[in-house]
Amino acid sequence: MADKMWSGRSQKALDSRVNDFNSSISFDWRMYSWDIAGSIAHATMLGEQGIIEKKEADKIVNELTKIREDIASGALPIDFEAEDIHMFVEAELTKRIGETGKRLHTARSRNDQVALDIRLYLRQEIRAVQELLADLLTTIAKKASDNIQAVMPGFTHLQHGQPVTFAHYILAYAQMIRRDMERLDDVYVRTDVMPLGSCALAATTYPLNRHRVAELLGFSAVTENSMDGVSDRDFVIELASALSIMMMHLSRFSEEIILWCSSEFGFLELDDAFSTGSSIMPQKKNPDIAELVRGKTGRVYGDLTTLLTMMKNLPLAYNKDMQEDKEAIFDAVDNAKLCLELFTKMLDTAAVRSDAMLQAAKKGFMNATDCADYLVRKGMAFRDAYKITGQLVAHCIKENYIFETLPLKAYQSFSPLFENDIYEAVDLIHCVNERKVYGGPSEDSVRHQIAEINSFVKSKQEL
Ligand code: ARG
Repeated sequence: MADKMWSGRSQKALDSRVNDFNSSISFDWRMYSWDIAGSIAHATMLGEQGIIEKKEADKIVNELTKIREDIASGALPIDFEAEDIHMFVEAELTKRIGETGKRLHTARSRNDQVALDIRLYLRQEIRAVQELLADLLTTIAKKASDNIQAVMPGFTHLQHGQPVTFAHYILAYAQMIRRDMERLDDVYVRTDVMPLGSCALAATTYPLNRHRVAELLGFSAVTENSMDGVSDRDFVIELASALSIMMMHLSRFSEEIILWCSSEFGFLELDDAFSTGSSIMPQKKNPDIAELVRGKTGRVYGDLTTLLTMMKNLPLAYNKDMQEDKEAIFDAVDNAKLCLELFTKMLDTAAVRSDAMLQAAKKGFMNATDCADYLVRKGMAFRDAYKITGQLVAHCIKENYIFETLPLKAYQSFSPLFENDIYEAVDLIHCVNERKVYGGPSEDSVRHQIAEINSFVKSKQEL
């Protein structure tokens, strides 16, 4: 049993089961490069402030840099018997440079150290998720450009409503994904605050320069209250919440992709590389990726619930319960990234079956509103036009017609206002393109939406 760094007061070695139970290195080791970056900034500042000698600070910084390289190259394997990544790095430093290594932890506690590490780690992960979201937006914009004329049924209550295009339909998701990206910008602002110097909870008597540490690590602000600095995990919860909302969007989209790939719809066909077969049914082509995205959404919600519940009755300041934040947020981030990456590729390679969409759009009299509007344009009151159109629908169903094929004479037996131009009025692509209102499905509006999304992505990439 290794001697614990904190084994001053304690007279006994730790029970091995307690050691395992207490340990977090099996999951927090992944923050090693950020832990070392934080220690390098701290040591640099301690040297600059004369809290430790400049020479000693330099020695610490040099050795920490080597330790980071050695972990990255595999020359220094992580010791999973250690309590956590902070202890592991510090113990290794002391092993290598002796007494000087022991000075690193001056005016610092693992409480503010872990708060710093998790912020550094999540700052990077937020940007990584945003990049994947930008790729998804680009893919949606491209798919939309390719399908501007692809008429499909628009649904409410999953019943045929009014015709739209596949482009307009997927651009609805582009708006959701865009908001997801903006939400993450907001989370970033509150994650980008430097807590080191809060120490255990009551800051310190040493003359630290916390703003210098923030500057060295590229933080925009420092925490204002030392007790809050070590107790705040709001930013972790906010990230899990933003990721949950993002996953909810992906899950709705997945649910639809699963429907569109069924033989009942047949609107989409997934690429062979992004669908799977069945071990017994040779004909099967399953949308497993979409199903897993839908399934993993529940898992990310679970992570959010874990975090909210873990924090809800913790007295200030640090409590060991908070060690549980990492597995939950790592899981949420890992799964969100994995889902985004695969979902984007699956969408990108899926074939859009515009014929099947058009055939489906012709069922269900989705141009009924347009037929009524036609009569209104010819001078009839909307309520009368609505009634006549309803009678026309009943007639068509009985006689096996759709509006596009019903003879003009039949139309005219319902109202003399019908003329030959009714066929243009009920033509589905015409119906879509007449919806020119801002935000509508017309070709011009869709082109505008695509341009907006592309310029949004470009503005983000320029940052
Ligand atoms: N492994 C701990 C965590 O993740 C680090 C902080 C430990 N602090 C303490 N006082 N025991 O939260």
